[in-house]
Amino acid sequence: MTTTSSQPNEPAGELLLRTMPMPADTSFNGDIFGGWIMSQMDIAGSILAKEVTRTRTATVAVESMQFIKPVKVGDVVCCYGRVLRIGTTSVTIMLEVWVRPILHSSADRFTTFKVTEAAFTYVSLDEQGNKQPITSTSRHP
Ligand SMILES: CC(C)(COP(=O)(O)OP(=O)(O)OC[C@H]1O[C@@H](n2cnc3c(N)ncnc32)[C@H](O)[C@@H]1OP(=O)(O)O)[C@@H](O)C(=O)NCCC(=O)NCCS
Repeated sequence: MTTTSSQPNEPAGELLLRTMPMPADTSFNGDIFGGWIMSQMDIAGSILAKEVTRTRTATVAVESMQFIKPVKVGDVVCCYGRVLRIGTTSVTIMLEVWVRPILHSSADRFTTFKVTEAAFTYVSLDEQGNKQPITSTSRHP
């Protein structure tokens, strides 16, 4: 999935995770490593997936991602998510990452912008780690 160039003003979905990258999360050029952002998205998506399935889950697929803007140390990173699809054993979550650069904004106004988005798919697992049908769904698309 590719992102559109026109930025919506508001994130879609509910706030699942809010965090702040540290210097250890930077790549060689000083910006935050893309893998760190993907990791936060995976954690955020797994929270919503577990709320849907009420079981253990495993990430089975991530659709293609595009990083729109760099993330800096000290930025507030917010992961928003919404259920796109509930299948037989899987749930697909659309995740958006928005950043509030509190150290780089003017004193009277915080800007917020989207840095990436992707659909993450999780599979419901039983105690032995085998896929199982989703039977208990507390949330629906
Ligand atoms: C998750 C796992 C148990 C699924 O087993 P499987 O026999 O391959 O399962 P299936 O091919 O039947 O797929 C299971 C579900 O995932 C979905 N799925 C599988 N591959 C997918 C893909 N590339 N994109 C989207 N959905 C996918 C299937 O559509 C199916 O959903 P449904 O039951 O709702 O229709 C197995 O692939 C696994 O253990 N993977 C490793 C997971 C893991 O360790 N993740 C952490 C990161 S390493």
